[in-house]
Amino acid sequence: MNQRLSAPLSIVVGITGGIAAFKAVSVVRAFVREGHNVQVVATDAALRFVGRPTLEAMSRNVVHSDLYEGVAEVRHVAIGQAADLIVIAPATANTIAKLAAGIADDLLGNTVLASTAPVVVAPAMHTEMWLNPATQANVATLRARGVTIVGPDSGQLTGDDSGPGRLSEPDAIVAAALAAVSLTAKRPRDLAGKRVLVTAGGTREAIDPVRFIGNRSSGRQGVAIALAAAARGADVTLIAANLEIAAPATVTVVPVTSAFELQDAAQAAAPDADVIVMAAAVADYRPRLVADAKIKKEQQGDELTIELVKNPDILKSLTEVRTPGQIIIGFGAETETDPDALLELARAKAKRKGTDFLVVNRVSWSEGFATEDNEVVIVTDTGDIVMKAAGSKASVANSILDLVG
Ligand code: C5P
Repeated sequence: MNQRLSAPLSIVVGITGGIAAFKAVSVVRAFVREGHNVQVVATDAALRFVGRPTLEAMSRNVVHSDLYEGVAEVRHVAIGQAADLIVIAPATANTIAKLAAGIADDLLGNTVLASTAPVVVAPAMHTEMWLNPATQANVATLRARGVTIVGPDSGQLTGDDSGPGRLSEPDAIVAAALAAVSLTAKRPRDLAGKRVLVTAGGTREAIDPVRFIGNRSSGRQGVAIALAAAARGADVTLIAANLEIAAPATVTVVPVTSAFELQDAAQAAAPDADVIVMAAAVADYRPRLVADAKIKKEQQGDELTIELVKNPDILKSLTEVRTPGQIIIGFGAETETDPDALLELARAKAKRKGTDFLVVNRVSWSEGFATEDNEVVIVTDTGDIVMKAAGSKASVANSILDLVG
């Protein structure tokens, strides 16, 4: 998603001491290739993992690491003051703790404290350190302050172990960082401190171990909402049902397959959410029986009947137990072509589901699903139109979030 911003940015890439520091070289290179001016601020530990000449060649600037160099030009605050964006990748547990406490015992700590630019932090550490309550509390503090947290990914770590703690891929870090700075330029981080639950994608209802009943939802609109909410400072959980695209690295992802799994995940996460956006296309029906083994045509003959039973309405079950102040947004995809009739369907659905806002869009063989753009009408619980939005799924996402910001 490497969007090109109109003017080159002054970007500080903070590098701290971890094996993943080698991946920071690709982050620096990507920003430079996009035409931005990159100042690397490395901790002493980072320079044990990656060489100063490499970083200077890639950034085309001197690498800063010593708090007591450039004192005459007050470098310890000048770098932060000049920055449009600060990206710390990799961020160790130690650096995250220092950032959370506002400690400035090295050049990077001073740079962050002296800056008003958006800060993007990409943690990398062993799973135990990441899951440690101290680290989790520090990350929550940074998020609440509006810092964008990218990742970490789950996968092979430096030793034989694997789990959450891997630095996100450089492309994902760069995309999240540029999204953070472009949004901040236009919008305040109005969702900082809010917990947003988003469902996206389409459920699959098993027929047998190899087949399912599904739908054409790609998950693009829900993912765009999750990404935009995170960029606006929210702590986002994304319940992801069979996405066709990668989930953002700035959110907590809960993968699910079927409507029942989505229901379990949604009901577990809902009580803690300030805002719930049900963008997923949940199957209305599932096969009554799921065959244990693959259904064989040799045994079935020319006809096969699959009996379907209704799935629970997850959205309705959430609105019935909503917590005080919680805002619940539902979606409705309709094939109705007449705009007035479409609106009536939206009003009836908003009433039936008990949503605060119902986002309705027209779908057809060619509209709505795998496309990059969307066009929606949003109605309130009383059936009033509050908004019509059209454009990229990212801009529609931001329009929807404007209702709760
Ligand atoms: O009734 P319909 O399927 O059009 O409603 C769509 C909205 O309801 C979406 O927000 C979808 O996520 C949600 N839904 C649900 N549980 C179902 C079916 C739909 O939560 N079983």
